[in-house]
Amino acid sequence: MKRSKVNQIMREAEAFLKQHQFYLPPFAHWTPEDWQAKGEEACEIADHGLGWDITDFGLGKYDEFGLLLFTIRNGDKANLAQGRGKVYAEKILLVGDHQMTPFHFHWHKTEDIINRGGGKLMLRLFNSTEDEGLAETDIQVSLDGVVHTFKAGDTVCLNPGESITLTTGLYHNFWAEDGMVLAGEVSTVNDDHTDNRFYEPVGRFSEIEEDEPPLHLLIGDYAQYYQPARA
Ligand SMILES: [Fe+2]
Repeated sequence: MKRSKVNQIMREAEAFLKQHQFYLPPFAHWTPEDWQAKGEEACEIADHGLGWDITDFGLGKYDEFGLLLFTIRNGDKANLAQGRGKVYAEKILLVGDHQMTPFHFHWHKTEDIINRGGGKLMLRLFNSTEDEGLAETDIQVSLDGVVHTFKAGDTVCLNPGESITLTTGLYHNFWAEDGMVLAGEVSTVNDDHTDNRFYEPVGRFSEIEEDEPPLHLLIGDYAQYYQPARA
């Protein structure tokens, strides 16, 4: 993706979030120069992958296949292994009208996906087979604490306020209808480098073509702009 497109998506996201009165943490607004001036005190943000994450899944058609994520908080593997500390994560996702996030499941992460406002959030579900294909078996999922049973490939519609718990191994894709959706994600610790099994091969992170300076850094930019001396 071109950096100018990433910057434009960020600006539109900031306007949408303002309209929905959803406020991001301070580091969302840091400039590349702000990052370069930070020391070791800001390590958690980079080490735990907090911040802006915009992907076109390597397909080059962001409006059709793409997602804006902002990771607000996240623990790490050590927390999970010890069963204490920050064993949780929280993101917001901006899902465009008919903008698809392709079928995937997570091996380790259980996530609640919440429609926090905007249009309708649509999700299609399949159980996975042992060899990570799409199963034909019925699916049992919890929608806001109530168990529902769906057929393989059924579509679930979440209206604002509604949520679904996606357990490990449950294939899901999603898109919005009737306008962009401000979605929340509350989960166990998140690792997008190792815990996404996409049904069809796509890229989780986009290559960036630098055609103007970054407005705010993406998670993938930290290594280049932020190199604090570590004790
Ligand atoms: Fe997911």
